[in-house]
Amino acid sequence: MIIASNFKTNHNRQSTKEFMDFINGKDYFSEVRIFPPYTALNNYDLRPNIRQGVQNFYPVDSGSITGEIGFSQLEEFEIDSVLIGHSERRHVLGESQKEILKKFDFAKQKECEIVYCVGEPKEVREQGIEAVMSYIWDQFDGIDIDYEDLIVAYEPVWAIGTGLSASQEDIKEVLNMLRVKIKAPLLYGGSVKVANTKEILGIENCDGVLVGTASWDKDDFSKMIEIADNL
Ligand code: PGA
Repeated sequence: MIIASNFKTNHNRQSTKEFMDFINGKDYFSEVRIFPPYTALNNYDLRPNIRQGVQNFYPVDSGSITGEIGFSQLEEFEIDSVLIGHSERRHVLGESQKEILKKFDFAKQKECEIVYCVGEPKEVREQGIEAVMSYIWDQFDGIDIDYEDLIVAYEPVWAIGTGLSASQEDIKEVLNMLRVKIKAPLLYGGSVKVANTKEILGIENCDGVLVGTASWDKDDFSKMIEIADNL
C-alpha cells in the first residue's frame, strides 16, 4: 500500500521537519510519500519506504524562469518523487495537458517516480460514468502509462478538500476501468480521512491513498499508515 501526504500550501520549515522526523521515526511497512512545500524541503536520512517528493517543478535543470524551481535545485534534496497533474494545478492554475506532458516527459527522463493525478469535475460526474472515463482518458493524452516508476492517483475534483469523499462504488468503478489499461499502482484521493481510510483501502484495485487536509496532522497521517500496515 502507498500512503501519500500532499501538504499543498501548509506547514513551514520547522513543522515540516517535525512531521518528517516523527514519521521517519516509525517502523512502518507501507510505502510512504510526503510532498511538503518547496520552502520546507530538507535533507533527511529517510527509511527506504519513505520518500520526500515535490508538488511541482519546472521542466528544466536550470535556466531563466523567474519564480520557478528546476530539477538541479531539487536534486540537492534528493527528491525522487513528483506530483504531476494535480487538479488544483489543472483547474485553479490553468495548467494545460501540453504543459503537464512536458513535466511528465522531463521527470521520466530523470527516472523520477511520478504520481500522476487525474479526475473529473462535478459537472462531468453528473453526466455519468461514460463521460467521466472519457474525461479521464483525455487526461492521459500523450502520457506513457507504461512508465515503470508511475503511480496514478484518481482524485475526483468535487471530492478534493470538500469533506465529501466519492462513494465506494464510484471509486471501484473508475479504478476497475483504469486497471484494464494501467498496470501502475492506483491511488484514490479526495477527502480521505482516518475514519474512511480502511474502507477505501479495501476497494478492489485500490493500492493506496493520496491525502491532503487530513494528512497535515502527523498523528492522523500516522494512523492512516498504521491502518494500511494492518490490512
Ligand atoms: P483532500 O485533498 O484530502 O484535502 O481532499 C486531496 C488531494 O488534493 O490530493
